[in-house]
Amino acid sequence: MNRRRFLKLATAGAAASVAPSLALPADAPRILRAEHAEQHLVGATNPETAVWAYGGTVPGPELRLRQGERLRIEVENALPVDTTVHFHGIRLPNAMDGVPNLTQAPIAKNGGRFMYEFDLPDAGTFWYHPHLGSPEQVGRGLYGALVVEEREPPAVDRDLVWVLSDWRLDRNARITGDFMSFMDASHAGRIGNTVTVNGAVRDVFAVRAGERVRLRLINASNARIYGLRFEGHEPWVIALEGHPVAPRAAERIVLGPAMRADLVLDCKGDPGTRHRVIDDFYQRRAYRLLDLEYASDPALRKTSGPVPSLPANPVTQPDLARAERHRVVFGGGMMGAMPSQRTQRGMFWTVNGKVLPEGHHHPDPMLTLVRGKSYTLELINDTSWHHPIHLHGHVFRVLERNGRKVEGGEWGDTVLIDPDSRAEIAFVADNPGDWMFHCHVLEHQASGMMAVIRVA
Ligand code: C2O
Ligand code: CU
Repeated sequence: MNRRRFLKLATAGAAASVAPSLALPADAPRILRAEHAEQHLVGATNPETAVWAYGGTVPGPELRLRQGERLRIEVENALPVDTTVHFHGIRLPNAMDGVPNLTQAPIAKNGGRFMYEFDLPDAGTFWYHPHLGSPEQVGRGLYGALVVEEREPPAVDRDLVWVLSDWRLDRNARITGDFMSFMDASHAGRIGNTVTVNGAVRDVFAVRAGERVRLRLINASNARIYGLRFEGHEPWVIALEGHPVAPRAAERIVLGPAMRADLVLDCKGDPGTRHRVIDDFYQRRAYRLLDLEYASDPALRKTSGPVPSLPANPVTQPDLARAERHRVVFGGGMMGAMPSQRTQRGMFWTVNGKVLPEGHHHPDPMLTLVRGKSYTLELINDTSWHHPIHLHGHVFRVLERNGRKVEGGEWGDTVLIDPDSRAEIAFVADNPGDWMFHCHVLEHQASGMMAVIRVA
């Protein structure tokens, strides 16, 4: 790692008590250990919470590399359960995708290891998490940010990550053990009662008047959807799901599970003031996430220049005129029609009428696509619930979402579909292998809402 990058990491860390950064020189393998840890999630006056964590902290180490570099990291599993690691949103070779019994054998409990190694074609904000026993493993704290910097990142004063996690804690700050309860699995998923930013409930986020912050939001929660408002501020969205969008001011930033947004936050408040950041996605349960707290120092600068647009990633445009169309219907859940034998086996959700249990050996693909061809998928949410639908190994264009054409066709790996609504995505099936296509509400994923798309 060169000195400039080191300094950047060091300042980012010092300024915001963000996740510890693990600098990854391109050549040295490093270890990512999944292990037990204790962490103060809800303030020093409350007991510590026993968590599962990568490298002993939640979130795990922030992996920060440069576009085009190779990530090489060995995962060691010190937990009493098998696991895998999936690098969400990265277009990588199938064997590195971290899906148990599909792309690799699970990493055995109590000491198993697996080496992940792949190139990073796209710049952007990504993350990593287990792909086995996800409701519990993610729900106990296993995830971290993977930031791939542009070759020439836009100038900002600070570039940092907020990993948003949602926890279900009891009065003693212990994680409740009711994973995959009937209620969670068949409704909105495991929505908790405590939201942390970078592993702690925070009262404030310190800023300085006049500074420009690039804020990378990652929703690492099992099921909670966020709708964030920065009172007194108008953040610019410059990327979604890791990929650039034409910069636009956003009043409210909606993030489903697994989704990311890169914001440019110009700190235009006065020195010494405080401004709330509100999450009001569930309107009757709105709460204050934290306050932006301005230092009393005079403003760093008077005006902030134009908001930078990020360079596009090297994703091939699908040929929309010739794309082959397929329809994918997501069904099930409470208030839907679900045959009762299935609900007895804990399978509540379907993709095109079928369920796929997690960790299934060699599942049949729902679709087999021809390598190099363009496809349009019409995604129909035939349920009364939200579903963030995620495709592995590819980046798709979102053409339409919830009844609205998406201007400019945003790129993404996850699309949030409202209840009884639809979306349309298009992509070139250019990465060979068997790829998961599933809902990222982890309780839905683990109770059937998952399928395999084969690119051959
Ligand atoms: Cu973020 Cu299939 O996962
Ligand atoms: Cu879902």
